[in-house]
Amino acid sequence: MWLENHNLKKYNTFGFDVSARYFVEPDSVVDVKKAVAEAHRLKVPIFVLGGGSNVLFTKNIDGIVVKPAMKDLDVLKRSETQVWVTVGAGVVWDHLVEWCVANNWGGLENLSHIPGTAGAAPVQNIGAYGAEIKDVVQSVEGFYLETLESFTFSRSECAFGYRSSIFKTDLYGKVIITRVTFALSATPRIETRYGQIEEYLKNQPDRSIQSVRRAIISIRTQKLPDPEKMGNAGSFFKNPVVPESVALHIKESYPQIPLYESESGYYKLPAAFLIEKAGWKGVRRGDVGVHTDQPLVLVAFTGATGAQIVSLSQEIQESVKDQFGVWLEPEVNIL
Ligand code: EPU
Repeated sequence: MWLENHNLKKYNTFGFDVSARYFVEPDSVVDVKKAVAEAHRLKVPIFVLGGGSNVLFTKNIDGIVVKPAMKDLDVLKRSETQVWVTVGAGVVWDHLVEWCVANNWGGLENLSHIPGTAGAAPVQNIGAYGAEIKDVVQSVEGFYLETLESFTFSRSECAFGYRSSIFKTDLYGKVIITRVTFALSATPRIETRYGQIEEYLKNQPDRSIQSVRRAIISIRTQKLPDPEKMGNAGSFFKNPVVPESVALHIKESYPQIPLYESESGYYKLPAAFLIEKAGWKGVRRGDVGVHTDQPLVLVAFTGATGAQIVSLSQEIQESVKDQFGVWLEPEVNIL
């Protein structure tokens, strides 16, 4: 059913009060295609929405918002060592993780508690606590908006990178993802390189993917604000990847900055560190601000608008640029 002038407050984790000229939540691929064909007939632009946890609405959407609602979860096949799990794009990401962990299928547990939907997860190759979905994606299915032609991309065809994929680059705005298939481990090994996980496990009776999931949920709830209580979209910026010379130059003045190795000759810098050292941690500007515990997260208080967040983010970008010579790129999609 098409809704007109539909309010999107509930559909974006910043909680911005904007509306869509049309809104539809189709629960089958056939119906998603019908909605897209109808949008073509009406000549209105199409915006695909997942959980709304990585978008920043700055104005009303003068087009149709399509929110795929295929919510099936299935085991496709099994071997002794692997389980292939396939899910509709509308499945809530953490429901998928919870289901896999409960069945002792390993690979997604470090990605526990990330907001959003399964269909949106490959777009920015969601990652946290030493894991990225690129390590377990088997294939991504969808179709091209213009021609309605279906595709199935293998993991390598998705061209995954740090918070990136072909869906965020060459195919941005050109496709809808309808299904994702994961190759998980039937004999899971836990990934605990991120220091705080080990700390948490010290006080646990076992070392299992179930306890890793508990660790991640505990770490995330301590560090990241709950969108139900304070509007936010997780990390607002990406961690910048800079040439070694730039990283070492910054380290001379700030010896305590941790550097993470990236592709050869490059380092990933913690944006949170740069933002904190530029004096932004916990700063509030009217109805928006920088989170007190994790400065990579921008927060929206009651009455805030997308434009206020954009303006705060620009001030931060300029000041980090002035102090460190590094430009922070937004991770969030600004619409
Ligand atoms: N840091 C500070 N001050 C702070 C917080 C952090 O200086 O107040 C520095 C510390 O040096 C710390 C470093 O930043 O060692 C890294 O911090 P953290 O481990 O919290 O991770 P992050 O790099 O800030 C990334 C992801 C998060 C993900 C965490 C955990 C990006 C853009 N963000 O944040 O993802 O949960 O790692 O793996 O890569 C998201 O994408 O929305 C998101 C929350």
